[in-house]
Amino acid sequence: MDTTEQIQKIHDFSYSKMETDRTGHNFDHIERVVKMATRIANEEKSDKLITLAAAYLHDVADDKLVDDPAKLELEISNFLKSIGLNEKQVEEILFITHNLSFSKTLSDNPPKLTLAGKIVQDADRLDAIGALGITRAVYYGGVYEEVIYDPDIKPRENMTKNEYRNLDNETIINHFYEKLLKLAGMMNTPTAKKIADERQKFMIGFLDEFKAEWNLEK
Ligand code: ADP
Ligand code: NI
Repeated sequence: MDTTEQIQKIHDFSYSKMETDRTGHNFDHIERVVKMATRIANEEKSDKLITLAAAYLHDVADDKLVDDPAKLELEISNFLKSIGLNEKQVEEILFITHNLSFSKTLSDNPPKLTLAGKIVQDADRLDAIGALGITRAVYYGGVYEEVIYDPDIKPRENMTKNEYRNLDNETIINHFYEKLLKLAGMMNTPTAKKIADERQKFMIGFLDEFKAEWNLEK
């Protein structure tokens, strides 16, 4: 099987797992991450198969989304081997998908990603900011019954991994201060950083406008 065919199979596998998600990781999120990762990879020269495979598979075994992530990781591993990837490639892809998330970077000793991993992480984070990021946060907050905003609930700064994962009383607007506004400063690659800076300005403008309207200042 050549690389193009392998990538098509990985696309199909990811689609079969993600198409029913309704928490903001629908397949359109996956496709944007794949396209953005491809764009960054062209600038930063990473391994194409590893980058695309990790992009397609990055949310499939997410412990927020599935009950038994280890079982899915095993399934991914068997699937990748069945289409001809070797042990080392499979290991790198799973290391990336396992360690990509924002909460992992909150630990004292955050995992060191390979270049392909840094690129997929940037692409995933770019999809969480800007106009798309605003829409996904509102959508996610709706699914999980968060309130939109409450000026009496202050955003929690510098949370540990466990605190971030077990937040109660979350508001959609606080999520911007607790995560989304931090992402632009956490980009790994210069290509992503440039795109993130634009999206950051848009989010800050949105939050200013939101608060002004909330407080009837205009
Ligand atoms: P991903 O794994 O794709 O990086 P997440 O699973 O963390 O993203 O979240 C999916 C989307 O929902 C992202 O856009 C994220 O910012 C948003 N989101 C995550 N947690 C919350 C929350 N508590 N409130 C509002 N939006 C959230
Ligand atoms: Ni994602």
